[in-house]
Amino acid sequence: MRLFIAADLNSSMKDELLYLAGQIKANSKKCSVTRQDNLHLTLAFIGECDEKEKVISALREVTFPSFDLILEGLGEFSRKGEKLIYGKMKSSPELMKLQKDISSSLTKAGITFDKKKFLPHITITRRTFTESGFSPSELRVEKISSPVNEFYLYSSDLSGSYPVYTKLAAFRCR
Ligand code: 2AM
Repeated sequence: MRLFIAADLNSSMKDELLYLAGQIKANSKKCSVTRQDNLHLTLAFIGECDEKEKVISALREVTFPSFDLILEGLGEFSRKGEKLIYGKMKSSPELMKLQKDISSSLTKAGITFDKKKFLPHITITRRTFTESGFSPSELRVEKISSPVNEFYLYSSDLSGSYPVYTKLAAFRCR
């Protein structure tokens, strides 16, 4: 089972991100927009793992206060020659601590996961080829906030025409 850990977004944040993705699509030769249900902030990517219960026990050890995610702007990665555009979340001590505590708990439990430096981002378009003369950084971005009261262990099924993410367990702030 392919596993990852993520926080959800409220509808105002999703609406703003989808509005921006629509603007990017309108100015692109090719662009695949993330489905609304699939918008999330990944906190740790585990990948293939058959130790779901061990992951859940490790995550139960993580305590965190409720805090807000704040949309700061747009950014892009180039992956295998294709552009991926994301909503960049403002870094906050609470967000960075939550991500660090999740990583420490997984490490302590012996679970392997992607150890790339954490860049808080929400992918809004993949396989993007923008029209020449258009840069997503020109778009005006509303500084929307979205509360984090819970995070989730998700499974990811890539066997269909789009990824299907399913919540397996919830971890509330305390
Ligand atoms: P991405 O949006 O930047 O691709 C499920 O695949 C989620 O885990 C996505 O949000 C994805 O982020 C994230 N993720 C982080 N590291 C990943 C990796 N090494 N492979 C696939 N997805 C990864």
